[in-house]
Amino acid sequence: MHMLIVLGSPRKNGNSEILAQHVAKGIEKGGGTVEYIRLNSLNLSPCQGCGGCDGSGECVIEDDMAEIYERVDAADRVLVATPVYFYAPTAQTKIFIDRFQARWSRKYVLKVRHRHEEGRKGYLLSVAATKGAKVFDCSLLTMKYSFDAMDMSFADSFLLKGVDHQGAVRDLPAELERAEVFGQEIAAGVR
Ligand SMILES: Cc1cc2nc3c(=O)[nH]c(=O)nc-3n(C[C@H](O)[C@H](O)[C@H](O)COP(=O)(O)O)c2cc1C
Repeated sequence: MHMLIVLGSPRKNGNSEILAQHVAKGIEKGGGTVEYIRLNSLNLSPCQGCGGCDGSGECVIEDDMAEIYERVDAADRVLVATPVYFYAPTAQTKIFIDRFQARWSRKYVLKVRHRHEEGRKGYLLSVAATKGAKVFDCSLLTMKYSFDAMDMSFADSFLLKGVDHQGAVRDLPAELERAEVFGQEIAAGVR
């Protein structure tokens, strides 16, 4: 089982990244493999809504997304790790997601399915500074529909409220352990 981890925070070594590393540890302990994409280091343009993908399922914008499509298509599991920014995924994450309009076209306009039968699964890992009851609602809904466009089912989420400063999660060993167990359970097929 191979997992692609998509880092959506612009902050290196931030809370979502540290937790994602612990999920990765759990995946590897469970016999799986992991690779990362750091969105903020890539050249990615936002979707232009041009309809250029309607007839082909391929995006016409030429940038680093070409490689990301291939890596997502090749992965058995995708974990999107993003902090909450104004009750939503980060702008970097939203650009990544919107570019899957090309895959939405491939699936729903051209009716081409991609390895759907293999039970590919997507996961959200998110963190937020506050403890608002609805703080993850937008991101959960966004991931449900974007994983569908990637021809994956949205299987589960790892959510943590109340962490703000860079690396704050390092002071919460029980949460680091929970993330590792989350990874092990993904590898074991129970999530
Ligand atoms: C632009 C911006 C917007 C934010 N919006 C929210 C928000 O709406 N709700 C919240 O609880 N935290 C919000 N935060 C706090 C981050 O979610 C929090 O600092 C998080 O731990 C950052 O994760 P990272 O270390 O992985 O980047 C915001 C932070 C920034 C920089």
